[in-house]
Amino acid sequence: MNARDWDRLAAAYDSEVCDIFVRDRRNVIRRWLRARGLLRGRRTVLDLGCGIGSFFKLHGRHFGEKTGTDHSRRMLQIAARRCRAVPGCRWLQADARGLPPELRDRADLVVCSNVITFVSAAACHRAMRETVRGAKPGGWLLFILPALESHDQVVAVESGRPRAVRTSPAAIVRRDDRMQRFYTAEGARQLAARAGLRSISVRKVWYPWSDEGVTRPPRGAEVPWDWLLTARRPLRVRGGE
Ligand SMILES: C[S@@+](CC[C@H](N)C(=O)[O-])C[C@H]1O[C@@H](n2cnc3c(N)ncnc32)[C@H](O)[C@@H]1O
Repeated sequence: MNARDWDRLAAAYDSEVCDIFVRDRRNVIRRWLRARGLLRGRRTVLDLGCGIGSFFKLHGRHFGEKTGTDHSRRMLQIAARRCRAVPGCRWLQADARGLPPELRDRADLVVCSNVITFVSAAACHRAMRETVRGAKPGGWLLFILPALESHDQVVAVESGRPRAVRTSPAAIVRRDDRMQRFYTAEGARQLAARAGLRSISVRKVWYPWSDEGVTRPPRGAEVPWDWLLTARRPLRVRGGE
């Protein structure tokens, strides 16, 4: 999908796309931020592919300098409106595959949620590299990635057929009329390792079955989830970037 497609989706975004920051009812993301001390000390944060600004709307008041970027102008307009009560937000139109130089090496935390889902693996790796550049050396990165295991479970529940058996760490899946890259837990880990990140961890962020259109999930079935992939930019980069 290009920026125009996202512009078109922007107005209906609330109802059309699962907003993981709002849907994270078990507060996995908030607890991770708190445990790393990121909600204290007015840290600098960069949200790449910020969409309608949900991360800043929910958590922004704990941070200092805040920059949200997106390639969709419409998304940025809605984000600015939704976050008008959050002080210090700056919005910038930019492609996640090419970080504006002024945003390099600045952030204590870079957020990149449900953006590195490009069909092209090369585009995903490029966006990963750019995201890493936004963090200070030693800074944290927080990615949300669609989980392939969760998708397979939802399909199995809906179809009544057994779960798919996967041998590769990622797959292209059609969702909401969009082709998107989904990752296994190992695929998420590999993505971060290949970008040179350290302290890599992968956790589940659950969201309600109703977001998948399932009203009567089978008893005992695990609630659907996205991956919360977190990692640190190394303090020193071997051989330059
Ligand atoms: C699924 S939405 C996620 C929005 C937000 N990060 C969230 O989790 O609520 C994906 C967002 O990424 C943006 N996006 C997709 N490809 C992009 C690119 N190449 N450069 C910048 N933004 C992009 C879209 O415009 C959209 O706002």
